[in-house]
Order: sequence, then structure tokens, then C-alpha cells
Amino acid sequence: MHVGVVGPGKVGSALLNQLRGAAPRLRRDFNLELSLRGVSDSRHMWLDCDDDALNARQHGAQTWRPVELDEFAAYVAGDGSHVAILADCSASDRVADHYAGWLGAGIHVVTPNKRAASGPLERWRQIGAAAEASGAHLYYEGTVGAGLPVVQTLRDMIDTGDELTAVEGMLSGTLAWLFNRFDGSVPFSALVREAHAMGYTEPDPRDDLSGMDVARKVVILAREAGLALSLEDVAVRSLIPAELAEASREAFMDQLALMDAPMATLLADARSAGGVLRHVARLDGGRASVGVQVVEADHAFAHSKLTDNVLRFATRRYCDNALVVQGPGAGPEVTAAAVFTDLLRVAGAMGVKRCAC
Ligand SMILES: NC(=O)c1ccc[n+]([C@@H]2O[C@H](COP(=O)([O-])OP(=O)(O)OC[C@H]3O[C@@H](n4cnc5c(N)ncnc54)[C@H](OP(=O)(O)O)[C@@H]3O)[C@@H](O)[C@H]2O)c1
Repeated sequence: MHVGVVGPGKVGSALLNQLRGAAPRLRRDFNLELSLRGVSDSRHMWLDCDDDALNARQHGAQTWRPVELDEFAAYVAGDGSHVAILADCSASDRVADHYAGWLGAGIHVVTPNKRAASGPLERWRQIGAAAEASGAHLYYEGTVGAGLPVVQTLRDMIDTGDELTAVEGMLSGTLAWLFNRFDGSVPFSALVREAHAMGYTEPDPRDDLSGMDVARKVVILAREAGLALSLEDVAVRSLIPAELAEASREAFMDQLALMDAPMATLLADARSAGGVLRHVARLDGGRASVGVQVVEADHAFAHSKLTDNVLRFATRRYCDNALVVQGPGAGPEVTAAAVFTDLLRVAGAMGVKRCAC
């Protein structure tokens, strides 16, 4: 199989390491040769290329070249004699714009990038149509719950005739960590700074605090369950003070303390109601919402740890007691493992199986 990795950042680098580490075992146990044909970031691409003419145009063999994603994909695909897979480990809409073309050309795509599956419905439908026409696969387990089995679990339920009634969950590892720690002993802004310094938040913590990242995950789950939901349909209660919404990232970080008084009030209200604060996403009867809420002290969400994600699926079959998926919901290693699993799922669909020996 020919593999190309787009986005050698935290997740992409972890994936490259995992691919390298697993190669001997895949060769031995599955007779599967994964050949890394290229890596691309937002400005350069590296092709494992021995095409003299192409290399001569770029001043030398196997060097970084200016990125051109369709040229990259064509190189990974080669002459069509191998199964070709692109792993998109970016968070870029510009990369998602290429999916329909790649899938239409028979190139499989695996990704933790939420942009396609939660982006404009028209583009999502074109991507689905391209995959259906060529038979190429698009898998995106890492988009929700990082390495947790969420998307495939929901897909399996739907494919076997179950119906989703509601999903309730804590879908952000960053926000879970913040609200697990927020007990009033230090201001909320200090916790945001600590999470930022440890790399738990996005470079601009507003991407987490706005709730939009979680809203994207809700849209992905809704579409998986057959609902034509878009981001605009999700009622999102942002934690960002209005006066900081448009500020530069530096100005936002400088004035983080503006969050402290409203967050302290929320915490006091939660305590007087006998509960705790949690960031909760909900999808129920086609209505979706995301925001901080008070949950009772004996609620499962109140007992989550560290960056735990928790998803409770209520379905026609799981009606008396919801099906619960819980565990660490962030981190490059576990997210890369979800991408790797998707890649092996493509291999399985192409007939690769464990050797009998
Ligand atoms: N980190 C986690 O724990 C986690 C968990 C779940 C899901 N995810 C998802 O996994 C993805 C990667 O996250 P990350 O933490 O690894 O991010 P990251 O460290 O910021 O890496 C992003 C990578 O994408 C590249 N990129 C950006 N725009 C591109 C473009 N137009 N064309 C090609 N490459 C482009 C970047 O290259 P440049 O350096 O050139 O910009 C960088 O290599 C995201 O979609 C994220 O939401 C991450």
C-alpha cells in the first residue's frame, strides 16, 4: 500500500512513528508492505521520488518542494498498481477541499481532521458521492473522542438497524480538564494559562473555549446518524467574554482575567444547586446544543478524570440504559492510533488479512 501523510504536526508525527514501528509486524503477520511515498505540510512536500526529471526541476533528488496537493496525491497513487491512502493530519479546510477529487480518483482518505465531516453539507455530499462512485473509503474515527471507539460504534449501531434517540457527552478533553480542576481555589484564567502552557489547548485557547470544536463533533455524530445537521444548527454557548471575541490572541491572553468573575459566579451557582460545572454537548430529536451546565454530584459526568471524554448513546436498543464510551479524549498518540486503525480498516476492506502461519 502507498501512504502519504498530510500534516506532520503532533498527530502526523506520532502517526509516522507508529507506522515505522509497526512495519516489521505488519510485514510478518499480514504480508502488508506500507510504503511511505510522501509527506506534506502547508508549504512543502517531500516525495520519496527517483524521477530524475522531476527532481532536476527542484534542484536535487528527494528534497522538499513547494506544496501542490493534487500533485502530491498523484505521486502517492503512482501508476495505480497499489492501494493508495492519504492520511490528512491537518486541521485545514483547504485540505478537506481536495477529498472529493482524491476519493473520486480511487485514493482512500483517513483523517482526524473535522473540517470535511462537519463542514458545508454540499461539500460533504460531494465527498460521499465521489467515494461511492469510485469505491474508495473515507474513515474519520479520530475526529470525535480522539482514540476512543466512537464513530465506528455509532456507525455499527446504525448499519445494523438501530436508531439514535439522543447523545449526551463531554467531547472536549481540554474543557474536561479545565472543569475537573476548577474548584475556586485558583482563578479560571490561571487554569487556562496552565492548560495552554502544557499544550492541552489549541494555540489560541478560544478555539476550545468558544465551544466550536465540540459543536463540530456534534455535527459529525448527527450526520453519522443520518441527520442533515450543520454547524449553524448547533446552539453554542461560548465561554469567551464578548469584548475578547475579536481581540488578537496576545490581547486575549493578556486579558484572560476578564473570564474570572463570570466563571466564579457560575461555580457558586453550581455549588448552591448541589452540583458541579461540566461542558456538555447534547443531540436530541435533531436539536443540538453545546455549553457549560450544572450536573448533579452523582452524575457520571461529575466523576470523569483528567481529559476524559464521555459519550452516552441512547438508542432504540440501548433505551433502558445508555451505551457509554469513556476514556482519554485527547493526545497525539491515541489520535494517531485512531488514524492508523482507520488505515488498517482500509487494508482489511482491500482483502489484507492476518497470515494463517
Ligand atoms: N492533538 C490532539 O490531541 C488531537 C486530538 C483529536 C483530533 N486532533 C485533530 O488532529 C489534527 C492534527 O492536530 P495536531 O494537534 O497534530 O495539529 P498540529 O500540530 O497543529 O499539526 C497540523 C499540521 O497540519 C499541517 N497543515 C496545516 N495546513 C495545511 C495545509 N493546507 N496543507 C498541508 N498541511 C497543512 C501543518 O503544517 P504547517 O506546520 O506547515 O502549518 C502541521 O504539520 C487536527 O485536525 C486536530 O483537530 C488532534
